[in-house]
This record gives sequence, C-alpha cells and structure tokens, in this order.
Amino acid sequence: MKITIIGSGYVGLVSGACFAELGHDVICLDINPKVIAQLKIAKAPFFEPDLNRLIEKNILKKRLKFTTSYFTGCKNNIFFICVDTPDDGAGSPDLKNLNSVLATLKDKIKKDAVLVLKSTLPIGTNKSIAESMDKHFLSKNINIDVCSNPEFLKEGSAVNDFMHPDRIILGTPNKFSKLLLTEIYKPLKLPSNSFFYMSVESAELTKYASNTFLATKISFMNEVAQIAEKTGANIHEVRAGMGADKRIGSHFLYAGLGFGGSCFQKDMKALISFEKKSKIKNSIIAEALKINQNQVKLFLNKIKSNAGPNLKNKSFIIWGLSFKPNTDDIRDSIAIELIKLLSPNVKQLYLFDPKVTSDSLSCLNQYKNIQFLNTKYENFSSAHGLIICTEWDDFVSPKIQELQKLKDRIIFDGRNILDSEILKENNLSYIGIGI
Ligand code: UGA
Repeated sequence: MKITIIGSGYVGLVSGACFAELGHDVICLDINPKVIAQLKIAKAPFFEPDLNRLIEKNILKKRLKFTTSYFTGCKNNIFFICVDTPDDGAGSPDLKNLNSVLATLKDKIKKDAVLVLKSTLPIGTNKSIAESMDKHFLSKNINIDVCSNPEFLKEGSAVNDFMHPDRIILGTPNKFSKLLLTEIYKPLKLPSNSFFYMSVESAELTKYASNTFLATKISFMNEVAQIAEKTGANIHEVRAGMGADKRIGSHFLYAGLGFGGSCFQKDMKALISFEKKSKIKNSIIAEALKINQNQVKLFLNKIKSNAGPNLKNKSFIIWGLSFKPNTDDIRDSIAIELIKLLSPNVKQLYLFDPKVTSDSLSCLNQYKNIQFLNTKYENFSSAHGLIICTEWDDFVSPKIQELQKLKDRIIFDGRNILDSEILKENNLSYIGIGI
C-alpha cells in the first residue's frame, strides 16, 4: 500500500522504515530540509538500534523515500500523522505543529483520504479534526476519514516494538478504515485478538492511560523503596516477590532515579490538566508525578549525607546521561537534572555516556566544573565516587580494580544495576535505592 508519513521524528521515522520493511511504499515527509537530506543518505538524525539498517535497505529496495514536499507527499491518500505534541509549558500538549500540518493538508489534498493520527493527542482532538475536515472537504465532494492509531514504541527498542507489538489500537467508527488499517498491519502476522477496534476517544485515552499507568507503577515502586530503606527490606527481593503475581507482572517495577524522557511526564501533565479542568479530584497521577519529581532530590541528599556533608572539595564520575539505555536522547533526562543540582555543590564532575556526545550537551554550558569523558574508566583516580544515572548494559559489571581507584571508594547506583555484595566484599561502599 502507498503511505505518507508526516513528521520524521522518533515515531514517524520508525513507523515509516518499519512499514517499508513490511512491504509498503512509503514516503516520509518532514519540513526540516536538513533532516530529509540526511535521511536520503540513510542517516537517522538520532541513534535507535537497527533503524539505519532498515532505512538503508528500504531506500535500496525503492520502498522508502523522503521529501519536504507536500505535493509529492499528497500523491498518496493514506497519511500517518506523527508530529510531536510537546508540553506547552502550562501542562497541555502544544498542537501548533499538528495544526500547521492539518492546514497544509486542507490545501493540498485533492482526493478521498484517510488521516491516521499517531501523535499523542488530548481526548477529543481527533473528533474535532474530523469535524473540521468535513467542514472543509464535504463541499468539494471529498471524503476524509480521521482515525486514531496511537503508538506504543519505546525509545531504544522502537524497531523491535513496532515489529512485535503487544496490540494495535485502532480508533475509528468507519468500517472501510478499519479494514484498511488492519490490512496495513497484516504483514506483522498478529493474531486477530491483537487488534482492538474502538471509538477515537477510547483510543486517545488508551494511549494516555497506558503511559500514565506505567509511570505510576514506577513511582509506586519508588515509594515502596523508601519504605524498604526505613525497614531493612530489600527492593530487589520485594520486586521479585511482587512481580511473580501474574496480576501485577514484573515489568516497570524497577525503583531508581525515576522516569525521564519526553513522554511520561508530558502525558501525566496533560491528564492532570484535564482532570483539573473537569473538576476530577484526588489524582493518583498527580501524586505519581510528584513522587518522580522528588526522586532526584532524595538521591542528591543521599550523595550529600554519604559523601559529604561538604562536597566542595569532592569530584565525581557520572555514568549515563541519556534518559534511558540504547538511546542518545537526553530530553527530560534525570541524569541531566542531577548534574544541574550537583554541579554547584562539588569541585568537578566527569561525565561519560556510551552514546550521548558532548555536542548535545549545550544545556550544561553554564556549568563550568564539568568535563566530558571519552572512555568509561578515565579519571577514576581523580574522583571520589561514581554515580550511575542510566541503566546501560555496559555499566552492569564494572572492573573492580578500576572502582578501587576512586578516592572515597563510594558508588551511588541510581538504577540499582550493580551487585552490592560483590562491591562490599571488595571494600567499596554501595548506595542504591531501596536497598
Ligand atoms: C514510553 C512508553 O513505555 C511507550 O510505550 C510509549 O510509546 C512512549 O513512552 C511514548 O509515549 O512515545 P519511553 O519513554 O521511550 O516509552 O521509554 P520507557 O522504556 O517507557 O522508559 C521511560 C523511563 O522510565 C526511563 O527513564 C526509564 O529509565 C524509566 N523506568 C522504566 C524506570 O525508572 N523503572 C522501570 O521499571 C522502567
């Protein structure tokens, strides 16, 4: 099938490359000429495992094209809209980019079309888009169907998530669009019970509810971790015990520095703002967000009380800058937040990440006591302690003799990935979360 993807960010580009891999003819459209020029030579503007391979392969197979032109993009009549809807600063999603895409489509579409919204949109947005499309196109005798098909891919495993989804959510009352979208996803060979057909409002809310539920699970475990610390329980043992209950499940039960990234906090804020407007009281989501925002401060206090009180003459290595492993994305990264809080209190911070490069760290320019390291074990003998902020596989089994070079031999594990017993046996101090 011939598909146009509008917006070549994480969701759009991964969806486009994967649809092409599934055999569809895909045009990815983006208004950023730099991004499109790079994509034409098979270079994704961000790191995502396996993505460049898929782009290159499908360009060669002539199933994947890139353009900045709506004239080219509008040759097709199936559009997946994947533009970002960032926080507008007041807690609601900013629909500026979406509105500009819709205005252009109104001008450029000349035949019946299906608009599939993958962007995360406030509940009710799809309906109002459908109404506004009808108002514009019906007098021209053109029929535009608007569907909601939220995306559940995770950065760092986005290609795999797209190719092996737990479910496909299709929000549309239109029979033709249901069949069409089911056909588009058919090459994934999913069982029929992986498809959930529902109203557009339910599809919109399913996306928000899924993200905020996962975020709440994490905050819940971070709360339990605090109780564990006060009682002598161990959060690893508690998680294993809880996760064995199939009703609870073992995923997203990891206590740590809290969740970062561009999705969870944004989606929580959007639902909280909706709840406020709708006079819904006692928000679990609002509490879960507060717990997350407090997590980094609790960790900073741990650093102060275990390596301080005066940290002014102390230096630390920070491992992990991305908001999660297998990505170079630092948007809303807890590591960056911690660095901003820690830097004014310490002598020097040495930063290392397997994928984030110093070029993307302009947000830290004002902090003068920061040095970016190119290799993992650099400067250990100049530092007092190690602070782990991201759970990269590369950090799970560090060399003990390197850790022993740290002046205070202290390790703050913000993601609970190290074996505390081994460290203690080797005369290293270990501070985790809920342990
Ligand atoms: C999230 C959702 O998981 C996706 O399903 C959704 O499609 C996406 O948002 C989106 O709306 O676009 P993402 O933010 O890419 O995906 O990454 P996650 O794997 O969900 O991790 C988010 C944060 O939670 C990370 O900082 C991670 O370190 C943290 N986390 C995760 C924990 O602290 N504990 C856990 O147990 C799991």
